[in-house]
Amino acid sequence: MSSPILLAIEQRRSIRDFTDQAVDTATLHDIVQAGIWAPSGLNNQPWRFAIVTNATTRTQLAEQTHYGHIILAAPALIAVYLDQEAIYDKFKDTQSAGACIQNMLLAAEALGLGAVWLGQILKNQEKVGQILGMSENLQLMAVIAIGHPSRRDQQSLRKPLAEFIVKEL
Ligand SMILES: Cc1cc2nc3c(=O)[nH]c(=O)nc-3n(C[C@H](O)[C@H](O)[C@H](O)COP(=O)(O)O)c2cc1C
Repeated sequence: MSSPILLAIEQRRSIRDFTDQAVDTATLHDIVQAGIWAPSGLNNQPWRFAIVTNATTRTQLAEQTHYGHIILAAPALIAVYLDQEAIYDKFKDTQSAGACIQNMLLAAEALGLGAVWLGQILKNQEKVGQILGMSENLQLMAVIAIGHPSRRDQQSLRKPLAEFIVKEL
């Protein structure tokens, strides 16, 4: 595989262990910028973001998920929301949010950072919204935990391609 983009897609791993080193605001904005270059239906760009580095807020968010230890370890979080006033088709807008999140995971990797997509926290999305002071027209899609990886030996497997291609005509 020679394309740097294809290599990045394959080599990206979910990173859950971070050093204490902070992630600066400009870098977090670069990651969000990569997110907003994702495709969206009608180019409606329905995503909204909350960037969290404040330790007290991170501690409160950590209490909302089984994966709180990851949130506590990560110096930065980006909560990704869909704006209910901007959406036009719930299904397609949710897909757009996924594309946006994946762009941000790849951007974090490209910037020498590590990140993980946290979805389990959605079960407490109302409480998360209260902690962050988000308006009720914003629906939580995911929280991305970001930081400098303390290790990079994560392994992940994929089943063979043939198991996924159900038809080739
Ligand atoms: C929708 C979604 C929700 C996820 N939620 C969590 C989560 O709550 N906690 C977690 O540790 N990882 C979560 N992950 C990360 C997956 O566990 C991870 O992507 C998968 O195991 C494959 O590993 P890889 O990303 O290193 O290839 C989530 C990923 C997706 C796409």
